[in-house]
Formats: sequence, C-alpha cells, structure tokens
Amino acid sequence: MISPASIQEVMNRADIVDVLGQFLRLKKRGVNYIANCPFHNEKTPSFTVSGAKGLFKCFGCGKGGNVVTFVQEHEKLTYPEAIRWLADYYKIQLEETERTPEQQQQQLAQDGLRILNEYAAGYFHDTLLNTEEGQDIGLSYFKHRGFSKETIEKFRLGYNPESGEAFYTAAHQKGYSDELLEKAGFVKSGQRGHYDIYRGRVIFPIQSMTGRILGFGARILKTNDRAPKYINTPENELYNKSRTLYGMYQSRNAISKLDECFLVEGYTDVISLHQGQVENVVASSGTSLTEDQLRLIGQLTKNLTILYDGDAAGVKAALRGLDMALSQSFNVKLVLFPEGDDPDSFIQKQGAQAFHEYVKSHKQDIINFRMEVGMKEAGDDPVRKSKLVNEIAESVSRINKAEDFALQDYYVREAARRLQVDENKLVTLVNKYIRDRVEQDRKYDGKKETQQEANLIEEKPFEHASKIPDNVEQEWELVRVLIELGHRPMDGYAHVADFIITTVDSELIEDESAKRIFDDYYSYLQHYGKHPDLKYFTGNPDAAMQQKMASLFSTRTDISPKWKESFGIETLNGELNYVNEVESTISYFELKKIKVVQSEILNRIMLEKDMARMQALQKKHIELKQTETEILKKMGTVIVKQLKTNG
Ligand code: UTP
Ligand code: MN
Repeated sequence: MISPASIQEVMNRADIVDVLGQFLRLKKRGVNYIANCPFHNEKTPSFTVSGAKGLFKCFGCGKGGNVVTFVQEHEKLTYPEAIRWLADYYKIQLEETERTPEQQQQQLAQDGLRILNEYAAGYFHDTLLNTEEGQDIGLSYFKHRGFSKETIEKFRLGYNPESGEAFYTAAHQKGYSDELLEKAGFVKSGQRGHYDIYRGRVIFPIQSMTGRILGFGARILKTNDRAPKYINTPENELYNKSRTLYGMYQSRNAISKLDECFLVEGYTDVISLHQGQVENVVASSGTSLTEDQLRLIGQLTKNLTILYDGDAAGVKAALRGLDMALSQSFNVKLVLFPEGDDPDSFIQKQGAQAFHEYVKSHKQDIINFRMEVGMKEAGDDPVRKSKLVNEIAESVSRINKAEDFALQDYYVREAARRLQVDENKLVTLVNKYIRDRVEQDRKYDGKKETQQEANLIEEKPFEHASKIPDNVEQEWELVRVLIELGHRPMDGYAHVADFIITTVDSELIEDESAKRIFDDYYSYLQHYGKHPDLKYFTGNPDAAMQQKMASLFSTRTDISPKWKESFGIETLNGELNYVNEVESTISYFELKKIKVVQSEILNRIMLEKDMARMQALQKKHIELKQTETEILKKMGTVIVKQLKTNG
C-alpha cells in the first residue's frame, strides 16, 4: 500500500494543467483552459480545466474530476496505479506500507471476533424472544422498563440463560474455540470447565458506526447481588472502549441531520430516547469522553449537548472532556436533569414533548456553567479566584481560533464579565496560552527536522512572517479567511470556500506560498470531500510555511487593523458576522489588485506615444475605476450591514 503521506505529496505536487497538457492541447480561456474532450467526440471544445480548483469538467459528456481521476480515466488505471503514474511523472519517491506479520495477525483476530460476536448477538436475541426463560425473565424485564418490541429489535437486545454454560455449549458446538470465546469476554474457565460470564443477564450489543458488533454490555437483573451491575466486553483486538460510543450506529443519521449530538451516560438512556423519537443520542458508557470518541462525533456535528443527571460525579466527568472538546471546535452545552432523574426515566415518565421542552429551557453553556461553579467554590479567596481565571483562560485558548474566532471572542467577553476581570487582560492571558502551545508544537515538530533546519529557525525567528510586503498582505488575509471560515455555510453556495473560489480569480495571488495554500485547500476539498483544518497546513513540513501559519493564526488579536486605517471600515467587535468578514476580505483583495493594475496603466499612459493605444489604455483605466467604485459600494453595504448588526 502507498502511505497516506505519499499520496498527500503527490496530490500537492500534481498540477492539473501540467499533467493534462501532456495529453491534450490546452488553450487559455480567461482563468481556465479549454480543449477538445478526450472522452467523447467533439469539434468545438467543451472540456474545461481549472488550475486554481484543480478540476476538469466536460460540459459535453459530463465527465469531470481532479488530476488523479483524469489519469485513471485516460490511462485506464486504478486509483493506486494513477498515483504511481503521477509519482513517476513528478519523480516522487513513494513510501510503501507493507503489512507486517503483526498487522496480519491483528486482522485475523479481528475477523474471528467479528464473526463470533455476530453469532453471539443472534443467539442472545433469539434466546430473549423465542425461549421460555428468555421471555419470562429477559423480555418481561425489558417490557417492564417500557421498551417496545421494535426498540428491542432495533438495538438487538438479548438475554443469556441462567443455567451456567448454555451459551458456551452452543458456541462450542458451532466450532468457536475456547480461546476466542474467552478473549471475546463470553466465558471463563473454572474448576468444572467453562461457564458463561453473562449468565442470567440482559444483553446490549455495542455496534460500530457501520453496525458491526464490537462488544457487549450485560446488565444484571437481580438488584441485591454483589456482582457488578454491568459487565462489559474486555478490551481486545476489536473492542476499544475509548473509541466506541453506544448508539452511534442507530443515531448517526439523526445526529448529522439535526446537527446536534446528545451525550448521555448509559445504554438505557440511549434506548429510551430513541423510543421517544429522540434519535440523535450516544452514550460514553459511564466514563468521561475521550479524544477518539469526540472525533467520531465531530465527523457528524460540532454541536454537543451533554445530558446528565444532576449528581456531582456525572458533571465532573463531563467537565473533564471539556478542554478536549473545545480543542476540537465543539460547541458544548449542558443540560442537568432534576435530582434522581436521568434522560431515560425522564422521557419514560413525562414523554418526548416534555423532554424537548426541558432540554430547551435548561440548556446552558458549559464554560459559563464551569465559571459559575468555580466562582461559587472560590468565594472571596483571591488565590482560588486567580487560579480559576487562569483555568478559564486556558480553556478558552483551546477553542480553535482558526475555526471559531467568533466563539473565542464571545467567551472572552463572557468570562471577563462573570469573573469580573479586565477584558484586555484576559485577551492577553488567552493569547499567552495560545502562544505557549504554538511554541510547544513548534518545538515538537522541530525535533523531527534536521539540526540544520532547526538552527535556521532559531536564528531567524518569524522573519518570514513579519516581512510580508504590503501588496501581498491581503492575499494572506484571503488565505486566512479561507482556512478559518471555508467550512461555514454561505447563502447560495455550498460553503464559504465555494463562494471564495467562484468569486476570486486565484491567478491574481502573487505570493507563491499563499497561492500554494490556496490551491492545496481546494485539492484537499476535492480529494477528501471535506475541508482541511488548520492542522493540515501547520503540518506542512516546510519550516517557513509553519512559521507563517503560526503567525497568521496565533498572534492576531484583531481582524485586521489595516482595514480601519485604509478604508475606514469598522471591524466588528461583539458577535462577529463572518459572512461580512468574508465579503470584506474579498473586496479588499480585489481592490488591492485593481490598485496595482491601475498604477501600471497610469505609468503606461504617461509613457505611451501612440494615440490609439493611449485611448485604449484610458478606456481600460476608466473601466477599472468603475469596478473600483462598484467594489467600494459593495464594501459600503458591508459597513451598513455591520452597523446594523452592531446596533
Ligand atoms: P447507570 O447505573 O446509570 O446505568 O450507569 P443505566 O444504564 O442507566 O442502567 P439502569 O437505568 O439502572 O438500568 C450508566 C452507565 O455506566 C455504565 C453503563 O454504560 C451504564 O449504562 N456502567 C455502569 C458500567 O459499565 N458498569 C457498571 O457497573 C455500571
Ligand atoms: Mn438509568
């Protein structure tokens, strides 16, 4: 297999115009290139190539894609073959990942567990529904808890008989080895042979995002027992607790459709909410959230609402995951249920309508909640209060500024108000934490570089960043806005990035690095179908690029003070309207470019002796003036919009 890093390198290097130019006669037409389509017969060209977007499209036959797609189609190659073709063309050494014997072993073990789990889930489910014991004990328990037949089927709930080794005997007969059965957590070997661990328990299969059964939770039915309430599958090659969320398979569509994920504590909360038609819910199964679990949710939504009962333990667990959630740009809310109630009991007793109303009216911001609790705890103690301020600043600094500038801004203001500290000082403190982390990351990444390169960084810290010539500064602003806001929605477009690429002629970007990032962004978007985040760009092995990224995203406290100076545009403080920010940035970028062309034309007018050519130049000059006025007018509307939002 080709390593992902190598594929990335090929994608970064491959220039669609260059590559397609090897096969087709490309003619420049505006920003794009056109040619006769190689995939169908035509006399007038309808095949378009956009260098900036890294895309080709034939308006005649409909074929389209990126550089890899083209090579695949044209040369009749598979995806890896096309990557190899491009690597060969660009003389890129591909890194191959061979599967080690250990990896092969792991794969085998996983396959075995998967097949066994599937069998076991079927056995438990069948026992619950179709045996006398299952119906009398297991099914009547679930009925008693208010679970309907459909719910039981949807979650493939089951029952393991009490006898001692019923499941073991059945599985053994099917040919599953003792070793595998032990590893999967179903049986143990005792003095009188193997026996079932889950005997007399109801069974909750834990499924992956795609519905595969990774493990089980088995709940005891007798309340007076000293045995644990739930027994869960031990960690094995297939089941990794910290990477699994109960309910993900059944909830994923609703989570992404509603753009919100409810997080609850347990199996029964997930199930009862589903039965009440609240289907965007997962459980972390009694532990605080891990980074991997957050990543799973983050693929579907960034709005996380934690639903816990009001006891201290649950809330503490919820808060523990907070900084991690903020680092991953989650917008975290908290709903505490009344003493003695959890989401399961609440919705069972009061119904879905009351549940929704309760959530709506009790949803609170989790950072605000933490500040409130902290303030209460700190009381008048200045040392504890200062510690709290630092903790909150640290939390706020974890909000990914690149992705959520407005959110960080909001919290700084909220924190200043609630903790009664000066807003500017808080900003300074937050920035200090950001810088510390950027510095740390830089040092960490630096270790991977050769000593020579590391020395270069030491000698010339941030030189590249601080010497941005004035005429490319706005190019970098554009890049910043693209990375920071590209994934946000935009009226009439797929997203902000889509708006930018349709509005801006990227060929106008002069700074090579800025242009490359700009193009990389779109190749990534095209290739992976999602937006690259800041880490993707800061991960660039090029040291100068890293510096640039760090300075672009970490030290800025205001949007762009230059705007105010040059055009009297007030940037927003307060709820930042990112759409305005995008529009202003583009307008200013265009304006900058027009100014450059204008001054060139003026120079030429002064030097031109030929009357006709002089007139043509003057006409061009007037046109540019008109465009400039239009842009300024557009910027004017933005100012008005901003004033409206402010007032
Ligand atoms: P709860 O005790 O609240 O369980 O623990 P529950 O699912 O709501 O069960 P009911 O309502 O009493 O039937 C919350 C979650 O913590 C994990 C389980 O995931 C449970 O759903 N847990 C709890 C365990 O893994 N082991 C235990 O012994 C207890
Ligand atoms: Mn419960």
